[in-house]
Amino acid sequence: MAADDHAPSEQTDEAPGAAAAARGAAARGAAGTDAAGTDAAGTGPVPGIVKPLPAEWFVPRGTNAEMRWDTLRDADGGTGIGRHVPVERFFVRNHTSTPLIDPGTWRLKLFGTGLSGAPTADRPVEFSLGDLRALPAATISSLIECAGNARSYYRSQQQQSVPGTPWTLGGVGSASWRGVRLADVLRSAGLTADAVDVLPTGLDPSYIAGGTDYGPVRRPLPLAKALDDVLLAYEMNGEPLTPDHGAPARLVVPGWVGIASIKWVGTIEVADRPLYSPWNTDFYRMFGPDYPPGGGAVLTDQVPKSAFELAAGAVLEADSTHRLHGRSWSGAAAVRRVEVSTDGGRTWRRAELRDEPRAHNWTRWTFDWLPERPGPYELRARTTDHRGSTQPETAVFNREGYLFGAVVAHPVTVV
Ligand code: MTE
Repeated sequence: MAADDHAPSEQTDEAPGAAAAARGAAARGAAGTDAAGTDAAGTGPVPGIVKPLPAEWFVPRGTNAEMRWDTLRDADGGTGIGRHVPVERFFVRNHTSTPLIDPGTWRLKLFGTGLSGAPTADRPVEFSLGDLRALPAATISSLIECAGNARSYYRSQQQQSVPGTPWTLGGVGSASWRGVRLADVLRSAGLTADAVDVLPTGLDPSYIAGGTDYGPVRRPLPLAKALDDVLLAYEMNGEPLTPDHGAPARLVVPGWVGIASIKWVGTIEVADRPLYSPWNTDFYRMFGPDYPPGGGAVLTDQVPKSAFELAAGAVLEADSTHRLHGRSWSGAAAVRRVEVSTDGGRTWRRAELRDEPRAHNWTRWTFDWLPERPGPYELRARTTDHRGSTQPETAVFNREGYLFGAVVAHPVTVV
């Protein structure tokens, strides 16, 4: 394991099996009972993840599991996976390990100076899962995407060394999420006009890296966003949330970096002043020569990206037309257009959009290509969103390797 994996960044690849399993067991003890009655986490290729991670669907990356893009489409290029990724194929990003929480005894606890009567952490306003289900339900279709998604291309395309999980493009997924608007929960808990920030905290084990215990994963969210479109989800693709994706309830923060979408929410502090945690001071901000000395703004919107539903190094036949499939997305706005280059970026043609572009989701597209000569090729796809942002040729370096939005070269061989 590379030494830089221990840097206190978005990554946590530090978890070797035994330690991760021990932390998982500790979390289960603290947070509730293990529903299956067994130590489910700790057996597969990523010890802290509960669900099976077949090699044809996932690449294990430390405590995380990256989705393989080629498996969104059958090997023959035929039927693909729909706009939403099935739960069993959805990527997992865990700072430590998945806790197993008993939904029957779980309570969401809200407290803080932004609620009427300023309830304290030891006398919070509580909601059971049944209480949440009794509030009006809402369903949204949204991506979750890691801020470090595509990080490995800083190194492979730009020769820039960055620590952390070396994701290719599979740290992203789209799902249908059902739950209750965070706004409704906050108002039911007694939100006051003085509130400015909310701080959701996960029930997973504390994050320890480089000898520092950062405590449980938690990241403040400005009240304006919390009241706008944030969901406290209890279902994913029509089924109750599974342990790895945040059961019994998680936030879904549309368009924003995935760390905002706190899983396994146990408490929410609501404050009449700005709140801080390492996740909005030390991590998930931009540091580097092109950013202010103390670091750039706290990361919010995701940048535009594109991916082919094709294995890197795929082999295609010459003299036959191939329908290439892919998806493009942007955190800030819906996709406006997608262009594809088959000659290393010299010329570009429009791809055909196959979905009605929507904010906070990806748009599937196709591109017909007739390669005439055998040999190595580099495919490229780039998108422009409705705000006018186009994927650039290079991404501006930042020390932690966040938000790589440049065009990715996709090698294939024509035979
Ligand atoms: N919430 C908690 N409590 N612990 C975590 O480690 N990881 C975050 C976010 N919420 C995390 C969390 C990050 S960085 C991402 S990208 C998403 O969860 C990943 O969600 P998923 O595992 O359901 O794909």
